[in-house]
Amino acid sequence: MTVLVTGFTGNSGYEVAQSLRNKGLLFKCAVRNTEKAIKHYGNKYDFVALDFADPDTFKRALQGVNQIFLMYPPGGSLRFAEFLEQAKQMEVQHITYLSVKDAQFLPFIHHYKNEKLIRKSGIPYTFVRAGYFMQNLNDFLREEIKENRRIFVPAGKGKTSFVDVRDLAEVVSLSFQDPQLHKNKAYTITGSEALNFSQVAEKMTHVLRVAISYTNPSAKDFKQYMVSHGKDKGFINVVVGIHFPTKLGLAKGVTSDYQKVTGKQPRKIETYIHDYQNFWK
Ligand SMILES: NC(=O)c1ccc[n+]([C@@H]2O[C@H](COP(=O)([O-])OP(=O)(O)OC[C@H]3O[C@@H](n4cnc5c(N)ncnc54)[C@H](OP(=O)(O)O)[C@@H]3O)[C@@H](O)[C@H]2O)c1
Repeated sequence: MTVLVTGFTGNSGYEVAQSLRNKGLLFKCAVRNTEKAIKHYGNKYDFVALDFADPDTFKRALQGVNQIFLMYPPGGSLRFAEFLEQAKQMEVQHITYLSVKDAQFLPFIHHYKNEKLIRKSGIPYTFVRAGYFMQNLNDFLREEIKENRRIFVPAGKGKTSFVDVRDLAEVVSLSFQDPQLHKNKAYTITGSEALNFSQVAEKMTHVLRVAISYTNPSAKDFKQYMVSHGKDKGFINVVVGIHFPTKLGLAKGVTSDYQKVTGKQPRKIETYIHDYQNFWK
């Protein structure tokens, strides 16, 4: 069995690859630019070119693949339905799709539509509907934390159900290890507690031993600041959109699906902050 890991250079794909490797499962890493990937990661991985916007890359990327870790990247013009069609034609046996918590109630988002497409394809699937990535703190929130010692995001006082991407990756790799057990199941994977960003700032202050605050900007102030710092408008709107449900108090649900699937407790945010501390130094 060989798994195709899409989005390998991103948060989830990379951790899925690590988890598959730890379990001794075979996998190939899909990237848009194989040369760049080899330069960056060396020869430890088997890279194959895949661009969801370019159907000419689909067949070759899927050759010899039995299972797919499928993520949906940001950006438009993706030929996702065609990719699924090709996977079906090439008799892929299982897709584990990275979706988002509550996707089933949100018909206007990509994940709702993609889940529907995957179901329609008839390929056995597992949906991993994820809470808010802890790794956002070392990704798009990193610069402000590092430079200005603040979490700068328009999330109000609402709580969100943080999850460590490494825990998601564990669930994903288990779905490939025993696809029959996880066939046509949907899991909502969160950490064990919902937190607001003031609490996260306190925890960062405690673990990193440096004062971090949460400044709770309005969406308008956030946008103005980000535009004045040259950030892309599309990206800014996505960040505002992601945090709006949190602000409304709609993102705080936690589940025990991680414990049920893995038999373990999910990582706490303190562990995540400790493990990733070099990102903010
Ligand atoms: N952040 C959260 O809190 C959160 C929570 C729940 C669900 N999610 C979902 O997680 C997904 C994002 O996952 P992530 O954070 O792991 O990704 P990420 O770190 O944003 O990385 C994006 C990945 O997609 C690849 N990519 C971009 N355009 C592509 C294309 N046209 N064809 C093929 N690959 C392409 C990138 O590869 P290149 O190196 O080629 O650019 C990169 O590996 C989204 O669907 C999001 O909705 C996120």
